[in-house]
Amino acid sequence: MSRKFYITTPIYYVNARPHIGHAYTTIACDTIARRQRLLGAETFFLTGTDEHGQKIERAALAAGKTPQQYADEISAEFRQLWKRMGISNDDFIRTTEERHKKRVQELFRKLRDNGFIYKGTYTGQYCVSDELYVDGAKPGDPCPTCGRITETVHEENYFFKLSAFQDKLLALYANPEFIRPEARRNEVISFVRSGLRDLSISRSTFSWGIPVPDDPKHVIYVWLDALANYITAIGYGSSHAGAQEAFKKFWPADVQMIGKEIVRFHCVYWPAFLMAAGLQLPKAIVAHGWLLFEESKMSKSRGNIVRTETILDVLGSDALRYFLLREVVFGQDGSFSFDALVQRYNSDLANGLGNLASRTLTMINRYFKGEVPYPSGAASRTAADDAIADTARKTIREFATLFDQFQFSRALEAAWGLVAAVDKYIVENEPWALGEKQDEESRSRLATVLYTAAEALRIATALAHPVIPEATAKIWTQMGLGDIKKLALSELTWGQLRLGTKLGEIQPVFPRADKSAIERMQKMEEEQRNISVADVPAAATPAQTDAPQMVAAVGSPTAAPAEKSDKISIDDFIKVELRVGVVKVAERVPKADKLLRLEVDIGSEVRQVLAGIAEAYAPETLVGRKVVIVANLAPRKLRGLESNGMIVAASLEGGKPVLASFLEDVPVGARLK
Ligand code: MSP
Repeated sequence: MSRKFYITTPIYYVNARPHIGHAYTTIACDTIARRQRLLGAETFFLTGTDEHGQKIERAALAAGKTPQQYADEISAEFRQLWKRMGISNDDFIRTTEERHKKRVQELFRKLRDNGFIYKGTYTGQYCVSDELYVDGAKPGDPCPTCGRITETVHEENYFFKLSAFQDKLLALYANPEFIRPEARRNEVISFVRSGLRDLSISRSTFSWGIPVPDDPKHVIYVWLDALANYITAIGYGSSHAGAQEAFKKFWPADVQMIGKEIVRFHCVYWPAFLMAAGLQLPKAIVAHGWLLFEESKMSKSRGNIVRTETILDVLGSDALRYFLLREVVFGQDGSFSFDALVQRYNSDLANGLGNLASRTLTMINRYFKGEVPYPSGAASRTAADDAIADTARKTIREFATLFDQFQFSRALEAAWGLVAAVDKYIVENEPWALGEKQDEESRSRLATVLYTAAEALRIATALAHPVIPEATAKIWTQMGLGDIKKLALSELTWGQLRLGTKLGEIQPVFPRADKSAIERMQKMEEEQRNISVADVPAAATPAQTDAPQMVAAVGSPTAAPAEKSDKISIDDFIKVELRVGVVKVAERVPKADKLLRLEVDIGSEVRQVLAGIAEAYAPETLVGRKVVIVANLAPRKLRGLESNGMIVAASLEGGKPVLASFLEDVPVGARLK
């Protein structure tokens, strides 16, 4: 019976379109899944979308859609993107699917029947963005994870007896394989050692979620709902025999890959839920770092995302996969830049593997009529050939060890060490010079050199396949080896390339990219960000476009009385989405006396807004202040910065602007109408 292997990505929130930060987690898992398949494991690779909760409900509302419509659209974008990238997931679960909802309710029942759920009242702070209860925080405190202001929650909830699991969890972490890397494991241990409070696992003040069984006024806490996907997708809680069989076969997961910001949910809550339900625990939770762009975590709210499609259009999916796994030290944060991407692409793919393939195969075509030659006799061999064979054998071993410890960049470094060694070998042995000679000795030597180069190319290609599947599949066919998916990776050894193997048609796999590739990608991203800027009315003069984004909430005293025909209907007014936000960051914009750059949390996200209030308000006085923002304005660029909304203020003729504010406390995200 073959070994099974079950790997999962986190399921992606549908409040943001996919970007390369998301692609990073998926690519890492896809690579592992592909390697496991080649090693002969019966592999199940799961991904999907996380669609419930207050954050999604608010985002849908802000977009003027129902949560289901909204989730349908963005979930489809994830699914299509993975398809376009050739991601090899075996299933795609959506938390709004019936199969998931029913099975989550089963899990809830199980936890309740096992005595780990009770009813109580929760009063405390909640971060909607992270869907996280923030213990010990006071009203107005920021979330320790994302920095957004927490909201006060006072609700009757169901609680999970998390506190009962402290010792069991600590015992679990004694196994160093369970949480990786070590730094994350230490963080979790110290968090759990400091004491665990019971966890509220239902909400009753909004409805976008899975109803609690027998008490549908409550919806199940979105993290319990979401985490359960890892078992519901493979059949937990189903009454179908087939599903039960699948669950038995694949659970526990072998690898659950996550980003470092969701370690607590996966390493504390998740194993506790599983223990409480009497289920086995995953074998490893592996956390990667963040992809940074322009020095901070790439995310929608920071507005610094890079779309995967741009890179796919210009360089292809292999380029992105290779770059992310080679450039970022797994577990640590890594920076993305178009320059670095193109540089890596050219040096390692176009000039590295791609060039090795094309020069080796072209010479076999030219000098041996497209059939792999074989080293003929000891006389034609040198120590240099043996050195390449030794390097290749060592690389196979090293690659496996490093890769299986999730050290992708070092594994690739090892494989490309082989590519570099063969390149050097070719230069030193000058097959092109040997090819010009007709004597027996030169022909034999040429056969040995080209066989050695081709065999090393085959091994590098086989090892790299899970990382760059498209290009390696092409090289494999060009080498006349057929379908690379049939490769038995566990048996890969030096010397398997057969004499007389007929090459296929040779074509370059990684055409060189020049500077224009960088410019093209940057331009595509710029255009995406400015898409709605083009909609600024033609009448707007440059001066107007550069004007601070403000509207007068109180009419200007000198404004002419509105004509009857100027009146708008309530339907027109309702089109303007006014929301309460809280200022998180405020700073002056260099060389713009009137302008402040604000980051305003509007509940569903944090917006960058430029406001012409610098003469009236010192930036430090604004942080933590509630403001009113026009949330559905098309973005505009001011001084090279994108402004996503307007701050509402009274603009007094000749006087300084005065921000609209409230006497009573109002929740962030509340709509004005
Ligand atoms: N929905 C939750 C996960 C629930 S799992 C039961 C969630 N979703 S997410 O869409 O915000 O993030 C999903 C994954 O994408 C996480 O692993 C996260 O770390 C990853 N990334 C999102 N942006 C990222 C970067 N900029 N860099 C690297 N990975 C990041 O959390």
